[in-house]
Amino acid sequence: MTLNAATTTAATPRRVVVIGPVYCDLVFGDLARLPDWGEEVFAERFAVAPGGSAITAIALARLGHRVSLAATVGHDALGDVVRHGLAAEGVDLSWVALRAPGTTPVTAALTAAHDRAFATYLGAGADAIDVAAVLAGSDAEHVHVAGFPTALAQPTLAASAHAHGATVSFDPGWDERALTLPAVRALVREADVVLPNRLEAARLLGAPDDVTSADLVTRLATRRPHGISVVKAGGDGAWGAVTGGAVLHAQAPNVMALDPTGAGDVFDAGFLDAWWEGVPLEDCLARGCWFGARATTAYGGASAAPTRLEWEARA
Ligand SMILES: Nc1ncnc2c1ncn2[C@@H]1O[C@H](COP(=O)(O)OP(=O)(O)OP(=O)(O)O)[C@@H](O)[C@H]1O
Ligand SMILES: [Mg+2]
Repeated sequence: MTLNAATTTAATPRRVVVIGPVYCDLVFGDLARLPDWGEEVFAERFAVAPGGSAITAIALARLGHRVSLAATVGHDALGDVVRHGLAAEGVDLSWVALRAPGTTPVTAALTAAHDRAFATYLGAGADAIDVAAVLAGSDAEHVHVAGFPTALAQPTLAASAHAHGATVSFDPGWDERALTLPAVRALVREADVVLPNRLEAARLLGAPDDVTSADLVTRLATRRPHGISVVKAGGDGAWGAVTGGAVLHAQAPNVMALDPTGAGDVFDAGFLDAWWEGVPLEDCLARGCWFGARATTAYGGASAAPTRLEWEARA
């Protein structure tokens, strides 16, 4: 596997499988407002970039970790954009399966500085690769599950990973219905690290949206027999707790945010990088927040994901 030229070796390079739908993101940036039905609005900026699970995969590769992506894309132009973007970052694509043309998952992201709306075609995305097969054919130490579809498709994923001696993290992403389903909630319980944002956490817990993030993380940790629970809260930073431990908070650094798409996925990479180093939870949260904040400073999910050199040279 080739590594990104700007990458230096991680203090503890990990062999990681990122599994979950990968999208070709079409980012329409700097919109003054969302269009109504029958209307057209014009974007000031535009970017095409690998999205979904690709964002955390690229962010981890930029930190020097050995990352394989397990996903399906169409054998088509959008699939080529995604695969070339990932290969250029040194992500191993041996477990990317090609499907019929026209089936690459695609998302139109309509973004303004502090919020975004998505329209998505899932295509082959839910047709997840079997993680047991990937683990049997690799020496992965960690499986990061990006998005709820894999939890629905593979209810024994956490057990398989743990049987192979691999740890598991899970960022469920948003889907109003999926977050209420037993298979998704089961992976939330079984993963070693769970990383929802505050709306996702509320939905997972069946709590109202106005519950504080500190309360959400307390409730999440209570539901989980072990591991670390995190709740991400945009510009308000992130909260975290080890099951049975105190609730901790890290502030989000002040940045000139341009596009929040992918901030949570890049947060995940920073958080995991710190966790693998064995630093205290408050430092994992702080590193995640620094990474998430940096991700908002360019259009496209992983475009501004920091390299290790940038992390080490931070002010
Ligand atoms: N406007 C912002 N300013 C500074 N930091 C931010 C901002 N938005 C996000 N972040 C950082 O990124 C982290 C993750 O962002 P957020 O809570 O929006 O995740 P998310 O909703 O899962 O994002 P996505 O699903 O689009 O990747 C936050 O905890 C925070 O540290
Ligand atoms: Mg997210």
